[in-house]
Amino acid sequence: MTYPHAEAARPYLFNDRTLEDYRAAMAAGTGRVADRIRRADRPFSGVSPERLAPEIAAIDLERPLHDHAAALDELERVYLRDAVYFHHPRYLAHLNCPVVIPALLGEAVLSAVNSSLDTWDQSAGGTLIERRLIEWTAGRIGFGPAADGVFTSGGSQSNLHALLLAREEARAGASLARLRVITSEAGHFSVRKAANLLGLGPDAVVTVETDADRRMRPAALARELDRCRRAGLVVMAVVATAGTTDFGSIDPLPEIASLCETAGVWLHVDAAYGCGLLVSRRRRHLLDGVERADSVTVDFHKSFFQPVSSSAVLVRDGATLRHAAHHADYLNPRRMAERGIPNQVDKSLQTTRRFDALKLWLTLRVMGPDAVGELFDEVVDRAAASYALVAADPRFEVVTRSPLSTLVFRYVPPEGPGRKLADDANLYAREALAASGEAVVAGTTVDGRHYLKFTLLNPETTLDDIAHVLDLLAGHAQRYVDDLVPLADPR
Ligand SMILES: Cc1ncc(COP(=O)(O)O)c(C=O)c1O
Repeated sequence: MTYPHAEAARPYLFNDRTLEDYRAAMAAGTGRVADRIRRADRPFSGVSPERLAPEIAAIDLERPLHDHAAALDELERVYLRDAVYFHHPRYLAHLNCPVVIPALLGEAVLSAVNSSLDTWDQSAGGTLIERRLIEWTAGRIGFGPAADGVFTSGGSQSNLHALLLAREEARAGASLARLRVITSEAGHFSVRKAANLLGLGPDAVVTVETDADRRMRPAALARELDRCRRAGLVVMAVVATAGTTDFGSIDPLPEIASLCETAGVWLHVDAAYGCGLLVSRRRRHLLDGVERADSVTVDFHKSFFQPVSSSAVLVRDGATLRHAAHHADYLNPRRMAERGIPNQVDKSLQTTRRFDALKLWLTLRVMGPDAVGELFDEVVDRAAASYALVAADPRFEVVTRSPLSTLVFRYVPPEGPGRKLADDANLYAREALAASGEAVVAGTTVDGRHYLKFTLLNPETTLDDIAHVLDLLAGHAQRYVDDLVPLADPR
């Protein structure tokens, strides 16, 4: 038997004989990225899917290039040139942060060593490092010694995992159809998805109203808890949000925790966005009450300046993690746990799992938590200053002042027929701005009207950047009103 292709492929295997190629390939890759970053004068090229799709479709995946440099040249054309760059100060759209270099170093190390965090025999020290970070995060939350948790792929998985545990805790005697999850109207959609995946009924997620600052109203929650009880429904969890996606609002955690304790209901706090406050010396108090939760979602890839993915779910009582455990003879038989061999797979929804924790580990070891917290504080301060700027600008109206770093606002055309077109003008402005690549902003609806949204996560974004983007948006929106530029279905 001969293996002519394998023969040629052997030099690509990463091992002690290919280290020079490894170093050269990594240096070439980081060199390309560095070049791109150096030259990026805007966050986005404005490319359309129509323009890019044929380039990608035309690549013949059956014909390899046999050369890293050639593959990087091609990548330049199909990806790097037109990627959306979150490090750019005028990227203001979603919850994507710029990343710190120690985390990038971690990413390079973890993918090369390629530990899998399911079992000790696939990770060794990686398992212990992840456990230390879970312990550290639980400590920051204010959980006691019984706490535990696990890294996940993101906030959606963390929310799903927490709700799975809540469902199992609540289930005794209750049919799935009678289970309910209460969250606020500003809660994240992954709660609905999770309920669906957990086999709950279509009416399982009940939303309660928020106040003017988009925080869950405790009185509305109390009413809903009471209504469910009287209707013979079982509330398996209340999901409070510490940093709603659109408004950055933080639900009143102490009041909600008290209601949950009285009703004997599992409290999950979705702090996917707000978790950065855990390391903020100035604003940690905004999370007071989170220590009374049964479970907490934290997304380090939102407010800890970590690359995707880096998230965790934490529980106050580690014993509840048993609900997701399964012992497979080939992987994690019970006797291993009995012998005290640490296996993270016993706690995780995933089996093979990246050592994402290493990125946070190196970040903390190089920079320390105070540095991360102050970077986030700077962002929150900048968002407050941006709020003041927009609130004082007659061209715009703004919804609420976020305790975190979002800004939801809309262009309001001057009196006249333009007012009626405000929705379309705002939609158009966002689209035109993205097409220019000058800045990237998000959009959302509030009470049925279209709004624009900034999500600030970059300490490098200045107030001048914000003022400049506001001018650009106002210019595009007003041009739409004046000329009635046809909308290319931006919805
Ligand atoms: C409040 C909140 N929860 C959960 C999520 C989902 O997180 P991920 O995108 O990491 O799955 C998001 C995402 O934006 C969020 O804002």
